[in-house]
Amino acid sequence: MEAFGLPLSIRPFTREDLPRVSEIEVSIFPNPWPESFFTYNHEKAPDLFLVAVHEGRIVGYVVGEMREIMFSGVPHQFKMGHILNIAVDTGCRRMGVGTRLIDTIEDRFRERNASKVTLEVRESNSSARAFYQRRGYEEIGRVRAYYPDEDAVIMSKDL
Ligand SMILES: CC(C)(COP(=O)(O)OP(=O)(O)OC[C@H]1O[C@@H](n2cnc3c(N)ncnc32)[C@H](O)[C@@H]1OP(=O)(O)O)[C@@H](O)C(=O)NCCC(=O)NCCS
Repeated sequence: MEAFGLPLSIRPFTREDLPRVSEIEVSIFPNPWPESFFTYNHEKAPDLFLVAVHEGRIVGYVVGEMREIMFSGVPHQFKMGHILNIAVDTGCRRMGVGTRLIDTIEDRFRERNASKVTLEVRESNSSARAFYQRRGYEEIGRVRAYYPDEDAVIMSKDL
């Protein structure tokens, strides 16, 4: 499929993708996820860890999880998707890769009957906040000291 002219396919992560995903992660984030975080989340929800592939090379990924509200140990109808991580290789930004990844994971959340999707983003991460806003996310709160050095903005979107 085309993303603003960039031929791209979105597929589930496999274990063989870990070195390349980690390479992107380390190149972008000052406090990157260790490989074990990727592996753990993949084992928990394999269909909610997606990679974007351009000409055989991974150029981005998104990791999600489902959150189910429980009352007294009883699962309630209310289910939420939660985006844990999303990143696009620096050289492939503003070409629609992030949009394809987030649109696809939102579809996966809908398939699991989630009524909302939420995420946390660093207050200073103005590019990611602009990206989420463009995708219809709204700020619904803040968590003080969510990150060791910074507050988080919580963003949410109805599905
Ligand atoms: C946030 C991120 C995933 C967006 O990926 P992307 O592939 O560049 O996003 P897209 O090309 O799909 O952008 C879609 C729209 O989002 C908005 N947007 C994206 N990046 C933006 C930026 N740096 N500044 C302002 N708006 C931006 C624009 O409206 C853009 O549309 P346009 O290019 O037609 O103007 C990417 O910038 C990234 O990997 N950032 C570093 C990791 C990160 O911060 N992750 C989020 C952690 S919470």
